[in-house]
Amino acid sequence: PTPRIIAVDGPAASGKGTLARRLARHFGFAYLDTGLLYRAVGLRLLRAGQDPADEAAAIAAAGTVTPAELGDPALRSEATGQAASAVARIPGVRQALLDLQHRFAVAPADEKGRPTPGAVIDGRDIGTVICPGADVKLFVNASLETRAKRRHKELLDRGEAIIYARVLEDMERRDQQDRNRSVAPMAKAPDAFEIDTTKLDADGAFAAALTFIGSRL
Ligand code: C5P
Repeated sequence: PTPRIIAVDGPAASGKGTLARRLARHFGFAYLDTGLLYRAVGLRLLRAGQDPADEAAAIAAAGTVTPAELGDPALRSEATGQAASAVARIPGVRQALLDLQHRFAVAPADEKGRPTPGAVIDGRDIGTVICPGADVKLFVNASLETRAKRRHKELLDRGEAIIYARVLEDMERRDQQDRNRSVAPMAKAPDAFEIDTTKLDADGAFAAALTFIGSRL
């Protein structure tokens, strides 16, 4: 049988990762955070002292990204997020990461490699480009200030010393870059259900998603 696919898109710190993981657990589906793929490419370049805007270096790095390297805690840093957004604008990088994402959607498997009946995939272009035929599409959003506050708290909790104004500015720049790039920009698919988490907590977002998913799966 064809695996069921839930696509979850939205900007940074919208709560899409939390929601996607919870949906995956609820339905017994595999989960792929595609932001980590772009982060892995960005981190490789940062560690090699290369510029994330260096197209040839970024494309070469993207060609060798493997799921095994996605657990590195350094992937979660703010600097890596910015580098990820820079490499994500490069068409050759997106192309190089397509195959891995499509394989996951066609034959989803859990961490132990066991096949699952479906997948939850989160990112920016899942409902529009990667899985346009997804059974369910969600677009998770929140105001810029709400997302910046969340991200600031997350970074402080992880011991990264950074001021709120800087987080807000970085987030706004990354949003702009992700929305306005020429290939696969962040966008809500016309058939996606939008969940605004500005005034919704994780339980509220999960409940809204389940109500929408209802009989669709
Ligand atoms: O979601 P996360 O913040 O980890 O994503 C990091 C960056 O990777 C985003 O700012 C975006 O530029 C890029 N990305 C993307 N397409 C995806 C997932 C992430 O372009 N499907």
